[in-house]
Amino acid sequence: MLQVEAVHKSFGDFTAVYGANLTVEQGELVAVIGPNGAGKTTLFNLISGQLKLDKGKIVFKGEEISGLPPYDICKRGIGRSFQIVNIFHRLTVFENVQVAMLSHQRLSSNLFSPAQKLAVEETNRILESVGLSDKARNIAGSLSHGDQKILEIAIALGNEPELLILDEPTAGMSPEETAATMALIKQLAGTRGLTILFCEHDMEVVFDIAQSIMVMHHGQTLIQGKPEEVRKNKEVQEAYLGGEFDA
Ligand SMILES: Nc1ncnc2c1ncn2[C@@H]1O[C@H](COP(=O)(O)OP(=O)(O)OP(=O)(O)O)[C@@H](O)[C@H]1O
Ligand SMILES: [Mg+2]
Repeated sequence: MLQVEAVHKSFGDFTAVYGANLTVEQGELVAVIGPNGAGKTTLFNLISGQLKLDKGKIVFKGEEISGLPPYDICKRGIGRSFQIVNIFHRLTVFENVQVAMLSHQRLSSNLFSPAQKLAVEETNRILESVGLSDKARNIAGSLSHGDQKILEIAIALGNEPELLILDEPTAGMSPEETAATMALIKQLAGTRGLTILFCEHDMEVVFDIAQSIMVMHHGQTLIQGKPEEVRKNKEVQEAYLGGEFDA
C-alpha cells in the first residue's frame, strides 16, 4: 500500500532523515521505533506532505505522492495525528470530529449554515467507535490528556483514511490509558479494515501489537521485519534495544 524508498530530508546542514525505507502492506499494523531524534516524526511529515523530501520516493496505492501538498495526500487516503495534541480546544468533541468530516466532504464553507446538520450520523459513528460518545458535548479543551489524544484519532478518522498515521498515540498517558488506547488501535485496524502506521517509545506496546517493525537510527532504516526478527537482530540490540529491552 505504501512504499517509502531512500528518502532524505535536511534542515540546513543537518540531515534528519538519511535514506529511510519503509513498506506498509494493506491491513497491517506497522510500528516505527527509534531513539529520540531518530527521524520518526520527520519521516511521518514527509509521508503526509507536511514536509517536502529532498531525495527519494514515496508511493501510495501505486501512485507517487512525493512532494504533493498535505490536502492532496489526505484526499488520497492518508490521515494522521500529531505528536503534540492538535485539536480545537474551544469546540466540543462532536464539533472537532464534525469539522474534519465536513472539510473532508468539502463542505466546510457551509459549516455555520443548515449544512451543519450534515455528517451528524457519521460523526456519531466515529465517536462511538473510539468510545467518546458520552463526552460528545464536552468542550475539547476540558478533556483529559488521554481523551484529547483519542479525540485526535477520531479527527483523523473524520477524513475517512485508508492509512492512518499516528505519531506517539500514547505519549503522556497513564499505563491504563495506554492499554486502552492500544486496544482501540488494534480494534480500529480490525473492524474498520484500517492500515495503521505508528511510532511509539513503549517497547512493550510495540512488540505486543505491531505486525511489522521498522527501526530508525540516525535518520536511517536499520531493519524492517516481523517482531521476532527485529528482536533477534544484533545491530538493533546494540543500537537501540540495548539493556532496556529483554530479548
Ligand atoms: N524543522 C526542523 N528544523 C531543524 N531540525 C529539525 C526540525 N525538525 C526536526 N529536526 C531535527 O531532526 C531530528 C529528527 O527529529 P524527529 O522529530 O524526526 O525525531 P523523532 O524520531 O520523532 O524523535 P522523538 O522520538 O523525540 O519524537 C532531530 O535531531 C530534530 O532536532
Ligand atoms: Mg517524534
